[in-house]
Amino acid sequence: MIEFTVNGQARSVDASPDTPLLWAIRDHLQLTGTKFGCGIAACGACTVHLDGNAVRSCQIPVSSVAGSHVTTIEGLHTREAQALRAAWVQHQVPQCGYCQSGQIMSASALLKQNPAPSDSDIDAFMAGNICRCGTYPRIRAAIHDAAQTLATEA
Ligand code: FES
Ligand code: FES
Repeated sequence: MIEFTVNGQARSVDASPDTPLLWAIRDHLQLTGTKFGCGIAACGACTVHLDGNAVRSCQIPVSSVAGSHVTTIEGLHTREAQALRAAWVQHQVPQCGYCQSGQIMSASALLKQNPAPSDSDIDAFMAGNICRCGTYPRIRAAIHDAAQTLATEA
């Protein structure tokens, strides 16, 4: 049994140690908001937060997160996430939607460490999150809007 915290709750997973965290989350814990895209850390669809940092869950063996805190899109309730969700709706960001939970996981990590990102900051931080529908301009606009919302709340 591998024990770690997921979305604030203690969870145990009976999986072989080299099982990717992504499959522990999706298949063992039935949290299917985290998506499989490439399996080689090249698309960002599987992004979750590990102890507050955005990581690619397809490349992390579940044994290595024992004792850690994992947050998935289902449990992301920070003020950054709330502002991002509102901006996502306002800008109607998603098209097919497949990449979007990964996009929001990365965007919320970005705003946490950089509350006023420039276009180039956004492009650099979000570069690992691929969107085959090409929603990048709306993602960028929504991140700027969310940053503005957070600044006015502060
Ligand atoms: S599925 Fe993990 S980065 Fe693509
Ligand atoms: S919205 Fe379709 S892949 Fe991004």
